[in-house]
Amino acid sequence: MIRRDGLDKLTGQVRYLADTPASDCWWGGTVRSPTARGRIRAIQFDPAINWTEFVVVDHRDIPGKNAGALFDDRQPVLAVDHVNHQHEPILLLAHPSRRALRHALAGIEVVIDPLPAALDFSADPTSGFTQLGDRNMFCEVAWVKGDPDAVLRASGLVVEGSYQTGGQEHYYLEPQGMEASLEDGVMVVRGSLQCPFYVRDALGQVLNRPSAGVRVIATPMGGGFGGKEDYPSMIAAHAALLALRSPRPVRLLYDRHEDLAATTKRHPARTRYRTAVSPDGELRAMQIDLLFDGGAYATLSPIVLERAALHATGPYRCDHVRVDGGVRMTNTVPNGAFRGFGSPQAHFGIERQMDRIAGVLGLDPATVRRRNLLRDGDTLVSGQPVADGVVAERLLDRALTVAGYDAKRALHRAFNGENPWRRRGLGMASAFHGCGLPSLVEAAISPQVELVAVSPTRFRLLTSIVEMGQGVDTIFVDLVAARLGIAPAAVEIAPADTAIVPDSGPSVASRTSMIVGRLVEAACNDLLRQLGVGAPAPPGAVQAAFEALGGARGTLVGRAKYDPDLDAAAHRAPARGEYPAYGWTAQVAEVEVDLRTGMVAVLAFVSVQDVGTVLDQGLARGQVHGAVAQCIGWALSEEVEGLGGTGAGVTRYQIPTAMDVPLLQVEFLETPSSKGPRGARGLGEVPMVGGAAALANAISDAIGCPIDRIPATPPRVIHALRPGPT
Ligand code: MOS
Repeated sequence: MIRRDGLDKLTGQVRYLADTPASDCWWGGTVRSPTARGRIRAIQFDPAINWTEFVVVDHRDIPGKNAGALFDDRQPVLAVDHVNHQHEPILLLAHPSRRALRHALAGIEVVIDPLPAALDFSADPTSGFTQLGDRNMFCEVAWVKGDPDAVLRASGLVVEGSYQTGGQEHYYLEPQGMEASLEDGVMVVRGSLQCPFYVRDALGQVLNRPSAGVRVIATPMGGGFGGKEDYPSMIAAHAALLALRSPRPVRLLYDRHEDLAATTKRHPARTRYRTAVSPDGELRAMQIDLLFDGGAYATLSPIVLERAALHATGPYRCDHVRVDGGVRMTNTVPNGAFRGFGSPQAHFGIERQMDRIAGVLGLDPATVRRRNLLRDGDTLVSGQPVADGVVAERLLDRALTVAGYDAKRALHRAFNGENPWRRRGLGMASAFHGCGLPSLVEAAISPQVELVAVSPTRFRLLTSIVEMGQGVDTIFVDLVAARLGIAPAAVEIAPADTAIVPDSGPSVASRTSMIVGRLVEAACNDLLRQLGVGAPAPPGAVQAAFEALGGARGTLVGRAKYDPDLDAAAHRAPARGEYPAYGWTAQVAEVEVDLRTGMVAVLAFVSVQDVGTVLDQGLARGQVHGAVAQCIGWALSEEVEGLGGTGAGVTRYQIPTAMDVPLLQVEFLETPSSKGPRGARGLGEVPMVGGAAALANAISDAIGCPIDRIPATPPRVIHALRPGPT
């Protein structure tokens, strides 16, 4: 398959929202809180500015509910009388001139009476103040399997570790932005977003309009990574509120500074592990403590926490597990969805812990992993039996072989002995990740897909899934063309426009290929049934059947709807947090550390995964490349603390460049899954979940000191080498 969106992107023909002509627009802007927490005392407008030229909107102009978030009604669209984080939106402006708008934004001063703010999520809330009950938590989990307390008490060998991961900015290619206009009484919003129906529902609530009074259209996107999962609802609401009062469409585009400062980030997290092990490395019991930094509002934290809890054991068998977890409120920018959704934080903990266990027992890290890797028939902490057919041990063996693990270890010993200040090391991680949303959530959304037979040579696929660089348009075209026995050129993808497409659910959670892809195939089957052709159709059969109808039946539409029974295990309803299938990976990192500067260079990175049948080699490899680059950034250099406010974010926030990413060795072992089209599993997130741990394990191996906190920036590496006051 030639990538559908490839040529237009390669040649710069694609128009992202900010690239489309804007001659006719008013420009929107957002006045934000300068303070982390406090009461709004006054808003002062510079008298030198003629404010009658501007549309000015505050919370009193909201026709519906002052809340647009999925799970948190506390999060206002516009602050009322107090603020809970710096950069919280308070007031909106619009003006025909972008320059005048910028000037006016600087001419407004929000005066706030500050209140004490919680900025450190790991600080004991009882020592300060709380806003949400004693523990200041948005949500908590307490999962128990077996009798971990008794086994830990009786065990002679308990390994303990505490691990910390930082936040992360999504750094999609184009910053967030929305354009809103009232067209024939319908509020039409276009923008960069992953979930058209989330935005439509949020707008309905904020504007107090029925679904038919709101239309949401996804514009071309350069990546989302979760950053365009829930926050676009906020920007869409802002643009729409301005559009209600403006004579022209309103365009609200964030620049990179505003985006870095104000939009959601990955949840920083602290994980603690107490593991009872046998002398030969078998995991007997685990007590796991997960603490996530939620920021000021919950956003998607309940699902992030649930995913973290389910994956907190890593891909390992353990009969006795206790997972206690919580997402704590702090007065920082809300944290939200980011590729992996809590699973990377959990995997960082367990994968560092596995290396710590190996160190305590004097075993090779690969030996300890092999002893415990999940096999079919084992159960997860939720009680769900693994029945994926994937052999996790094969993935680890293959990754170590490709990395040349044994030979490299010998080479490193020699290298490290000869070099006074350079150290090389290897680290590995095994990981797994639930594909799709939890089965219970998929059932609640009940996603749908339609396929319209427009003419014998034109078939139009309608879904709410957006192409954001992951290649879904190409995958869907391929699935339809193959199923119907037609040329790819005969398949067209309808725009992700809520006025046109059914709700296929959000473009998130490694669900697109597996969950929606199988609906695409089912819609094809439905169409073939109506045409009286068997599936898959041989070439020419569909056209012949269609022509034989002679247009007598009007437009034919194939329809498909999610079937929850397909994802329920035999005789067992899914429990909370369970997924229809899992993606699996093993990764090996090789690094070199400069002991003088603390700089880490990644020399090689191997990523071997089983995501079932690979639907497109090129696209699948691309997903892994991108995820590994994001792992390298998260593990080594991306530091969210202190971002924003200063306008220096773009230069301070260091994402990896081509100079920082080594040659990546990517392989797939393919165990088909019964849950996805042609046997595909979800792919988008699994290569992201273990990589940072592999890198930290490699650095720890190189320098002989544990790296238990990321990002492992040069100062942190130096500190690990020479512990003492910072
Ligand atoms: Mo999301 S983190 O785009 O599932």
